Amino acid sequence: LESMNISIEQDKTLPEARKVKISQAHGAADERVKVSGWIHRLRSNKSLVFVVLRDGSGFLQAILSGDLALAYQTSTLTLESTVTLYGTVKKLPEGKTAPGGVELVVDYYEIIGLAPAGEDAFTNKVAEGADPSLLLDQRHLALRGETLSAVMKVRGALLKSIRRFYDEEQLTEVSVPSMVQTQVEGGSTLFHLNYYGEEAYLTQSSQLYLETVLASLGDVFCIMESFRAEKSHTRRHLSEYTHIEAELSFLTFEDLLVHLEKLFTRTIKYVLEDPVAGPLVKQLNPGFKAPEMPFLRMTYRDALVWLNEHRIKNEEGEEFKFGDDIAEAAERKMTDTIGVPIFLIRFPVAIKSFYMKRCDDDPEVTESVDVLMPNVGEITGGSMRIDQIDELMAGFKREGIDPSLYYWYTDQRIYGTCPHGGYGIGTERILAWLCDRFTVRDCSLYPRFSGRCKP
Ligand code: 4AD
Repeated sequence: LESMNISIEQDKTLPEARKVKISQAHGAADERVKVSGWIHRLRSNKSLVFVVLRDGSGFLQAILSGDLALAYQTSTLTLESTVTLYGTVKKLPEGKTAPGGVELVVDYYEIIGLAPAGEDAFTNKVAEGADPSLLLDQRHLALRGETLSAVMKVRGALLKSIRRFYDEEQLTEVSVPSMVQTQVEGGSTLFHLNYYGEEAYLTQSSQLYLETVLASLGDVFCIMESFRAEKSHTRRHLSEYTHIEAELSFLTFEDLLVHLEKLFTRTIKYVLEDPVAGPLVKQLNPGFKAPEMPFLRMTYRDALVWLNEHRIKNEEGEEFKFGDDIAEAAERKMTDTIGVPIFLIRFPVAIKSFYMKRCDDDPEVTESVDVLMPNVGEITGGSMRIDQIDELMAGFKREGIDPSLYYWYTDQRIYGTCPHGGYGIGTERILAWLCDRFTVRDCSLYPRFSGRCKP
């Protein structure tokens, strides 16, 4: 009852508080600051209230004492309420730990928005250990959790690092259509779209468009959403994913592989050096080993020998033979056993896409590469592209595709063809590897897979 009468007022004689984000507050020892955020944790004993504040830039431990701790207003605080805290940043004494090594000694605060208590309290909405599908319904709230938000921070740093690498390698970023009338990776995974009465699809890959601008822009990349109506429910398939794709001209297959090695080693190095993402990767994946050049190169033919020697069976439960797809389970067993990044190269023509170039020394196989990482398996697919028009037409025929719809693509072989190649990286897959997540669903803000298209 006594607390009812205690009102909270700002002491006007204190130095003016500087408005800061939490990340800045960490470096503002002995300064009076004003910092706004969400109450991430809340604990009180009689005369002290401990708050951990979160604003997306970091976490800040704050302490309320005296009248502030006793005031009625303070007793109404709940998790996820927003507040603005005013106070002095104090370095923690030896032996005590808190984010940034500091604590905010609060002298005044304002409530911006109180979150519900009781049945509707935040912790009831995203209870730990709740059914995954319930947590996905509450994804907008679950994203506030420490693990998911850490993965999303690493995701931002990864995309920034990839763009930095492309800038250093002088690739130009382009944006291409998502609504298309051509397929890239086979008809079975197309999402169909009624486009003003015409048949259209959501794009599976931006590759063909990237190829068309080599002649005007040189080496190019894009980071766009790709869509796949995957029938399989696996831990590494989404219906919509962020596809990092690049296309490079006048290069050999070996050049392409070296480019990929540089991409993975340098990009990962930049992420690990990032002051925000680096420590988060360590926290999420303490055993993470940054990849080193050169990557192990293994041909498809050698992989079959390896799989058979290790008694790993194909999809029919038999020994692997030439032409078999190395499906997810077998691929994962092989990758995990070998334990380092692998360039799996030279896949048979029959199990790869229409556009892939054959190897001169072995025309049954293609200049193709899958990059396999421990714990995830394939994170990248790439190849050299057929650059001769007749061979390309034969590829369309083999796959039963009407080439007339692809005139804008085939024209590239007529108006000055060139050797070229490229690849696509699944952003969520590279993250699952980097952040040690069980499934790519944990690496997408609002994952889409069959049965889920919300929120
Ligand atoms: O191997 P994919 O199908 O290759 C292509 O689409 C090429 N056209 C890319 C190119 O050369 N420009 O897909 C490339 C990568 C895969 O290695 C995987 O990482 C990711 O895209 N991927 C998926 N990620 C999540 N969910 C799915 N359903 C995915 N399908 C492919």
